Amino acid sequence: MSETKNTKGYLTGKEIRAIAKANNKEMKRLEAYKNRKAEESEFLTQMKNPENLLEIDDLHTFFFTEQGVVKAVNGVSYDVPKNAVVGVVGESGCGKSVTSMSVMRLIQGPTGQITEGSIRFKAYDYKRDEKGEPVPVEGAEGQFQMEEKVYDIAKMPINEIHRIRGKQIAMIFQEPMTSLNPIFTIGEQLDEVTMIHVPGATKEMAKAKSEEMLRLVGIIPENVYKAFPHELSGGMRQRVMIAMALAAEPRLIIADEPTTALDVTIQAQILDLLQDIKKKIDGSILLITHDLGVIAEMADYVVVMYAGKVIEKGTVLEIFQDPRHPYTIGLQKSKPTMTLDDSTELYNIPGNVPNPINMPDHCYFKERCAKCTAKCSGEYPGMVQVSPTHFVACHLYNEEKDNG
Ligand SMILES: Nc1ncnc2c1ncn2[C@@H]1O[C@H](COP(=O)(O)OP(=O)(O)O)[C@@H](O)[C@H]1O
Ligand code: SF4
Ligand SMILES: [Mg+2]
Repeated sequence: MSETKNTKGYLTGKEIRAIAKANNKEMKRLEAYKNRKAEESEFLTQMKNPENLLEIDDLHTFFFTEQGVVKAVNGVSYDVPKNAVVGVVGESGCGKSVTSMSVMRLIQGPTGQITEGSIRFKAYDYKRDEKGEPVPVEGAEGQFQMEEKVYDIAKMPINEIHRIRGKQIAMIFQEPMTSLNPIFTIGEQLDEVTMIHVPGATKEMAKAKSEEMLRLVGIIPENVYKAFPHELSGGMRQRVMIAMALAAEPRLIIADEPTTALDVTIQAQILDLLQDIKKKIDGSILLITHDLGVIAEMADYVVVMYAGKVIEKGTVLEIFQDPRHPYTIGLQKSKPTMTLDDSTELYNIPGNVPNPINMPDHCYFKERCAKCTAKCSGEYPGMVQVSPTHFVACHLYNEEKDNG
C-alpha cells in the first residue's frame, strides 16, 4: 500500500511491485470476508437513531489499483431519516456513486472493496426460522411473517445481499438503456421483480403488479408491457426503471443522477414523478445529483461531498440559506440560473480536486480555498456542529463543539 514516490515523481519498478504485493494481500482478505458464510446474528445491529432508515457511518470504499489505493470514499457518514429525501451533491468524481454502490453492495471486487465502516439499514424483512427460511402465516396461503430488523449491510456476506438489494433498497440509474436487458420485454423484466422478491408469487400476480406499477409512473400498460426497451424513448425507459424500482415496494430508493441523461422537458416530468412517488411510498429517497436546482426542489436534507468526504450536511434550508463551507458557498455562487441545460458547466470554482491516490493530510479544499488561514495547513478539519442538524468540516468554525 506504499504511496511513496521517488524524486522524479514516478513509481520505480520496485515500488510498483511492493504496491501490487500489498494490494493483493488486502484484496484477498476482503474478498474472503465478503464471500464468507455467516449467521444472521453477525450482521444484525441497532440504529443509532430509531428515526433513521439508513445510517452510513465512517464508510471507506477503496480501489486497489496498480498505481496505488484510490480512496474513493474516505470516511463518509450521513443518515437518511424515514420518509425523507436526502440529496447528495458534489463535483464529478467526489464519491457520490461509489457511496451508493457500496450501500447496494455493487462495488466490483477484487479491485473495489469496502474496507471499513458501517451501513446500518432498517429492513422490514421476512421472519426466518433456524434454517433461514421465511416463516409462513398460519392459514394464509402464500403469506409470510414479517419483522423489522437492522442489518449492517457492510458486514453482510455477499450471498445474503438478495435480502435487501432490489427488494428493500432499489436503485434508479442514470442511463436506463444499460440497466434494462435488451432481449426481454418490459413486461418480462417487470414481472421478474415480483417473481424474485415475493415468495409464492404467481405469473398472474406478477403481471397485475407490473401493470399497476406502469400506471403509477404514468404509462398505459397495454402499449408498453409487450415492448422491448429499444422501442421506447429515453424518458419512457426511465419511467419503466422507476416502475421496476417500485415493484418490489422498497423502503429506500436510490436515484443516481436520474435525470442527467434526459432532455430538459423530460427531466422536469421525471422529477415531478419522483415527487409524486415520494408522497405515495412509505419510504425514503436518496437522490444523487450534481445539479443544485434538483436538490433545492426535491430534498429535505443535503449532503455535500468533496474528494471522498462529506464536507457539509444539513437541512435544505441550512445548506441553501446558511452555507458554511467555502466549497458549498462557492457551489452556490457558481450555480447558473435554474436552466436545466446539459451544456452548462455547473462548477467553475478554480483549481482541481487533489489526486485521490495521494491525498494531502490537510483540508482537501485548501488549494482552491480563498479563505484559508494558517490553521488550514495543519490537520484535516473535524466535523463541527453548527445546529442540531447542520455540520461542517472546516477550520473557520469553532471546533470546541466538535462531535467527531
Ligand atoms: N472501478 C474503479 N477503479 C478505480 N477507481 C474508481 C473506480 N470507480 C470509481 N473510481 C474512482 O472513485 C472516485 C469516485 O467516483 P464516483 O463515486 O463515481 O464519483 P461521482 O461523485 O461522480 O459519482 C473517482 O475518483 C473515480 O475515479
Ligand atoms: S479548512 Fe481552511 S482551507 Fe479548508 S475549506 Fe476551511 S478555510 Fe478553506
Ligand atoms: Mg456518479
